[in-house]
Amino acid sequence: MARATVPQWVLINAVALALMILLPSVVPAEVTSKDSISSAPFGQATDGKAVELYTLRNRNGMEARIATYGGIVTSLTAPDRAGNYTDVVLGYDSLAGYLKDSPYFGALIGRYGNRIARGRFSLDGKIYTLAINNAPNTLHGGKVGFDKVVWTVEKAQVGADGPELTLHYLSRDGEEGYPGNLAVTAVYTLTEDDALHLAYRAITDKDTVVNLTQHSYFNLRGRGDILGHVAQINADRFTPVDSTLIPSGELRSVDGTAFDFRNPTAIGTRIENADEQQLRFGKGYDHNWVLNGPIGTVHLDATVYEPTSGRVLEVLSDQPGLQFYSGNFLDGSITGKDGRRYEFRNGFCVEPQHFPDSPNHSNFPSTVLKPGEQYRSTIIYAFSTR
Ligand code: BGC
Repeated sequence: MARATVPQWVLINAVALALMILLPSVVPAEVTSKDSISSAPFGQATDGKAVELYTLRNRNGMEARIATYGGIVTSLTAPDRAGNYTDVVLGYDSLAGYLKDSPYFGALIGRYGNRIARGRFSLDGKIYTLAINNAPNTLHGGKVGFDKVVWTVEKAQVGADGPELTLHYLSRDGEEGYPGNLAVTAVYTLTEDDALHLAYRAITDKDTVVNLTQHSYFNLRGRGDILGHVAQINADRFTPVDSTLIPSGELRSVDGTAFDFRNPTAIGTRIENADEQQLRFGKGYDHNWVLNGPIGTVHLDATVYEPTSGRVLEVLSDQPGLQFYSGNFLDGSITGKDGRRYEFRNGFCVEPQHFPDSPNHSNFPSTVLKPGEQYRSTIIYAFSTR
């Protein structure tokens, strides 16, 4: 019986196939970069609970680090126009900093973000009293808000849209004075187009008020003050405040004021306008803009561009308001990541949310959540370059 010879083309194909199988293992890691999610211990909260730090990485090499303590975004990298990824948020190197003293760096804020006047509101004819932690008002959920509790991890996976982390927290009836058991989930997704998506959901078993937001301090240059960042805010009106930063209830036109960011304007251009009483109250910008976009549908809230690096941050949300805070209470007393001191206006916050003190203003969009309803909020921080 004649021995069958293997044709040459079969051999060539076999070698090519073997190479295709073997090759990925010898190609450098950066070329085959994939979406991933991993975690590492980050220490212990003051109540002894273990805290984890999750790293979400997308295929471009962008990274978001999120702690289960306070749902804090501890670092977030974004590319400059040369493609270099740099951390663009303020924070600490270790958990100890966040536990000791933090002006809400990167935190998930709740149950009610921003201020409630004199820590009081009434709901269904009953008066609720909250802790006064920013005299004479309540700020960001009270003494132990959602930024100071350990969240449980419900899911950590690479999903269809990228690496995603789902955190859960059950805020008990009466916690910080608020009525109703509130079950909250927060999903963080890092997408392949370099955006961090946040989806907040909550349900309650009693009528309550809810206003969640994200409190990252951005610096798109990575260091220095933020006055040269150019901001555009899609809002025709803002909510003027009193000297304790509580809205009067008026929705005032931004026309002809230092609050008109309808066209791109450097943050520093009008921040010292001495004749603007509102800027004196906030020591700069620390106000809520009334977004033009429809409530409940994701719209572009603001765009911030940093000319030296070329970094652009677009903020999108389905919320009625945007708190734009220019870091006026930073004063150099905090030493953060890499031993850096955070000086006056070294970071800015863009926090999509409901208007401050809504529970005390019937003309503001309602923040009441009832049993059977679902609270929903979507916030997107999208990065690109120019
Ligand atoms: C508020 C500021 C406050 C800061 C605390 C911001 O959301 O608008 O008034 O000082 O949070 O870090």
